[in-house]
Amino acid sequence: MGPLFFMLHIDLISCVPELMDSFLGHSIMKRAQDKQLLRVHIHNLREYGQGKSRQIDDYQYGGGAGMVLMPEPLGNCIESLQEKRDYDQVIYMTPEGKTFDQKEANKLSLHKNLLLIAGHYKGIDERIRKLYVTQEISIGDYVLSGGEIAAAVVIDALGRLIPGVLNNETSALTDSFQDDLLAPPVYTRPNDYKGLKVPAVLLSGHDQKITDWRYDASIENTKNRRPDLLDKQE
Ligand code: ADE
Repeated sequence: MGPLFFMLHIDLISCVPELMDSFLGHSIMKRAQDKQLLRVHIHNLREYGQGKSRQIDDYQYGGGAGMVLMPEPLGNCIESLQEKRDYDQVIYMTPEGKTFDQKEANKLSLHKNLLLIAGHYKGIDERIRKLYVTQEISIGDYVLSGGEIAAAVVIDALGRLIPGVLNNETSALTDSFQDDLLAPPVYTRPNDYKGLKVPAVLLSGHDQKITDWRYDASIENTKNRRPDLLDKQE
């Protein structure tokens, strides 16, 4: 028998933990945590900083603009977390990582314990990547000022896939990208808005016709908006 209760635990190391408050405290991420299906703990890297000023960053060897997160505070933080649990992956958020997509979200959402690291400034000392990091994720080919927003993107994409988080359990399965197709267009009341009518088949009550229409509309939508996805179809 499979587990009766699924819980994804995510630890995030950040030097600006406040950035995550609003995101985690509202909407579906809040519900996921209230239902104890998702647990996100934010760890303030500053608490592992050295000296009175709790230093966590320093100039880079060899010169050059931008500070680097020092290895000791970050390494100590990672090790103290690893003493408490075995992580399935230690993930560094970086534009140098593999680009995140729905397939990766599906895969990661099946894990039990993930450790995410949000970088800042020029990045983290290379030795941390060598010693601890098992996976690197980018959310796209652009540079953010820190990894927190990227981590929020990943946490959101994973959280909503956990069974029981969304009200309608099938709804994550019918999302765009789940089968490399965009979702079909959706409509709600009124039937006539500024002369534009809802496709009649959606009002027909005929389940098979509606399913067929949605599939065709899905293909059409993908052709028009993201033709590159159709190349991925077998
Ligand atoms: N940190 C800064 N930019 C990023 C990106 N594009 N993806 C993930 N982490 C990042």
